[in-house]
Amino acid sequence: MFLAFETSCDETSAAVVHEGRVLSNVVSSQIAMHAEYGGVVPELAAREHLRNLMPLARAALREAHISPSGLTGIAATQGPGLPSALMVGLKAAQAMAFELRLPFFGIHHHEAHLYSPWLQGKPPVADFSQFQPNISLIVSGGHTMLLHVVSESKHHLLGSTVDDAAGECFDKAGKLMGLPYPAGPHIDQLAAQGNPRAFDFPRPMLTEPHDDFSFSGLKTSVRYFLRDHPALLGDVQGIRDLSASVQAAIVEVLVGKTIRAARRLGVRCVTASGGVTCNSRLRQDLAAACQREGFQLRLAERSLCTDNAAMIGILAERKALHGASPTPLDVDILPNWELV
Ligand code: KG4
Ligand code: ZN
Repeated sequence: MFLAFETSCDETSAAVVHEGRVLSNVVSSQIAMHAEYGGVVPELAAREHLRNLMPLARAALREAHISPSGLTGIAATQGPGLPSALMVGLKAAQAMAFELRLPFFGIHHHEAHLYSPWLQGKPPVADFSQFQPNISLIVSGGHTMLLHVVSESKHHLLGSTVDDAAGECFDKAGKLMGLPYPAGPHIDQLAAQGNPRAFDFPRPMLTEPHDDFSFSGLKTSVRYFLRDHPALLGDVQGIRDLSASVQAAIVEVLVGKTIRAARRLGVRCVTASGGVTCNSRLRQDLAAACQREGFQLRLAERSLCTDNAAMIGILAERKALHGASPTPLDVDILPNWELV
């Protein structure tokens, strides 16, 4: 029975997991607070984590119907992420592990994302190995990466973004369109009634023979497009068409590069997680492409795509199960921890 914390960015989360099952997963999002500033303000994020962490830990324990004495381990995100934000969760978890004399596991945030497609649905995480090797797409406001997951303890980073993450591109393009932060969900909604072929935007790096991504040029194309078509901002159907066109460009790159990596490496399964995996068109297009290619697809449930402590706890529990040594209690945060 693990109690886990996630505080790497703007979601404070605590969860209790047991034998691959999520007994509770409480998340407090700070989106509304940061929306005022158009992006995440690290110091404000850290203060919110400080304020929310203990109430959330109590709520997670209550919801799981257990007391601290029933726990067998504690876990927290050690990195990568915002330094001041990471510090809150890591130090609280270490203090708790010290006080309760429990093993502590410092977890890599991206490695944990690989587990979010397995937190719910069938088969459960215990049968994870049936779906390996696979290609995993992790796509959010802070990261866009493709991994070749060979086995549970062996994965290779194939590529990542060389500039903006895909979620950042949704958010920045949306800001230019006058949409609130984070704009991704608004673009998704508007695009449902728009024409994805109305305007032609670049598909950066789609055909280049590597697995890296680049989205800052696409955002700049939206800026120039709006400079040349200012009247579009006052036209409801125009904004829907623009949303659909920008979304189509981002999704085509994500799906195209994921499928190409899967084909090249001869895997039979594809997974996806991270906030952008909530996007309706990405879910649809990945499903259609995987069906065409004969790949199994495992998408994180919408509510578990974004950052959460359940994925941290599940990975810590798997590590303990496979005999990994606990993390020493005096380790520090690793804000730039690279996944290799
Ligand atoms: O995983 P997440 O909550 O946080 C990190 O960035 O780590 O992801 C948030 C990102 C934001 O950029 C947001 O706009 C995007 O995910 N997002 C979406 C959708 N829902 C969230 N992007 C496109 N369509 C959506 N439905
Ligand atoms: Zn994340």
